[in-house]
Amino acid sequence: FIISDKNLLLNAQRNNYAVPAFNIHNLETTKVVIEAASELNSPVILAATPGTIRFSGIEYLINIMNTAAASTDIPIAFHLDHHEDINDIKKAIKLGCKSVMIDASALSYEENIAKVKEVVNFANRYDVSVEAELGKLVGQEDDITVSERDSQLTNPDLAVDFVKRTNIDSLAIAIGTAHGLYKKEPKLDYNRLKNINKLIKVPLVLHGASGLPDESVQKSIKLGITKVNIATELKIAFSDGVKEYFQNNPEANDPRKYLTPGKDKMKEVVRHKIMLCGSNDKK
Ligand code: 13P
Ligand code: ZN
Ligand code: NA
Repeated sequence: FIISDKNLLLNAQRNNYAVPAFNIHNLETTKVVIEAASELNSPVILAATPGTIRFSGIEYLINIMNTAAASTDIPIAFHLDHHEDINDIKKAIKLGCKSVMIDASALSYEENIAKVKEVVNFANRYDVSVEAELGKLVGQEDDITVSERDSQLTNPDLAVDFVKRTNIDSLAIAIGTAHGLYKKEPKLDYNRLKNINKLIKVPLVLHGASGLPDESVQKSIKLGITKVNIATELKIAFSDGVKEYFQNNPEANDPRKYLTPGKDKMKEVVRHKIMLCGSNDKK
């Protein structure tokens, strides 16, 4: 069965590695992640954004995930990524989803807390783990001032208050990463990460890992990150594989043929990220 990510992350925290969370979109991308993780004996989180759920359908996805979990002996969590609509979350939980992110980070601090608390209250009745975010994942802009940047990154003292008042299972923090690739290498605020990790006990989540140098991911894990979210690099690898196939076979029309190079390319990235997180042989 698909499980909550709670124990996956607590195990990772105790043993100084991270569990990768891979954003999937459909059957093909799910199977890539499951195959790579099974081969490397890695626990794994498969993540779906609201856009993915609109695209594939929550019922289809839950059934694919349950089939995947029954096909392998690695622990598999299916996680709702960046969900803002509480009704979507409740629906997925009723269908068997055990791991959710409520992203109310765009709201005011008090509104964020209120919304997260509502989800935690509901999730507790179903043994579902809840991730929430404090801070904003921007920081790609060149012309941002130091104080502007500071106000977007997660404030350690507020993080303590936030975790205490919401009772969440994991906290997504902003330390300078962004979704997508980076125009230039981002400067991560490792001191901030260190401070937050010293002050709060719940596992910490790094969003926006695509495009980060391997050393930055490893350093973040050393300083307390226990879940690493990867989306864009997987999409690039998959589409590169498909594009290359069509370049060489412009008349192709069989999805079993033209999707396979996409899967193969994506699988290499998944393998690499599992090794980077150190979650191999941790099932
Ligand atoms: P990237 O697209 O930068 O990998 O970010 C993924 C993410 O944070 C998913 O929640
Ligand atoms: Zn994210
Ligand atoms: Na990124």
